[in-house]
Amino acid sequence: MRFLSLLFALCLTAAASGKPPQQRIIGGSSTSISNYPFAVAVLNNNRLTCGGVIVNNRSVLTVAHCIRGSSASAWRLRVGSSSANSGGTVYNVNRLIIHPNYQVFYTNNVGILRTSSSIGFGNNVQAGRFAGASYTVSDNQAVWTYGWGATSPTGSMSNQLRHVQIRTVNQQTCRANYNIISMSVTANEICAGNLAQGGQDPCNGDFGGALLHSGNVIGISSWGSTCGFRGYPAVYVRIPSYINWILANA
Ligand SMILES: *[C@@H]1O[C@H](CO)[C@@H](O)[C@H](O)[C@H]1NC(C)=O
Repeated sequence: MRFLSLLFALCLTAAASGKPPQQRIIGGSSTSISNYPFAVAVLNNNRLTCGGVIVNNRSVLTVAHCIRGSSASAWRLRVGSSSANSGGTVYNVNRLIIHPNYQVFYTNNVGILRTSSSIGFGNNVQAGRFAGASYTVSDNQAVWTYGWGATSPTGSMSNQLRHVQIRTVNQQTCRANYNIISMSVTANEICAGNLAQGGQDPCNGDFGGALLHSGNVIGISSWGSTCGFRGYPAVYVRIPSYINWILANA
């Protein structure tokens, strides 16, 4: 069970309830939305709360734990901007769809926000290219994630989109490490980070952002130990396990 993730979850809950988020990618660098035109700043009462990925012209994928228990009208989606707080286009949300088998904390952690009006695509606004159900990634492959989240576990908010290159981590190694602290990594999840040194991870406010392998969305950031903690790379929802549900509901 994931009892020790409780504190972490409480931090996320605080963010979702409208407290000031502390936000940025750890160990990465600034980037531009033009490199990630499918990236979405998921705002609750106009504050950055999570990341997301454009699926099609009416749906954005994020983590279920970000949006569960809230009302659709609390959410806005900023697309086409490198800044979480300005620019691009902001869409209202009229429906939240949570995976029917979602469980606290983080099992089947996928959800969809449906926009009130159609998302207009352009150079900086595109749907992600999602991995199919049979897509596999081997260990120690270069992958990227992005977000407007915390640059340290207690970091302050940044406007600018950031990204970090990390590596896929062997499933057994990741599972064994998390077992030590009573958290379970399932076959429907994939770990990525800097296993040996730590220091490169998504953090509060980033969750729901894509994990990219050769430009394909293979995961969305879901949970972890303290951001950037050595030996405990972040855990991502494994997109191939959920792509059929995502496409059926988007
Ligand atoms: C949204 O996408 C659907 C499916 O591709 C398409 O049929 C529809 O015309 C699009 N809507 C707008 C307003 O672009």
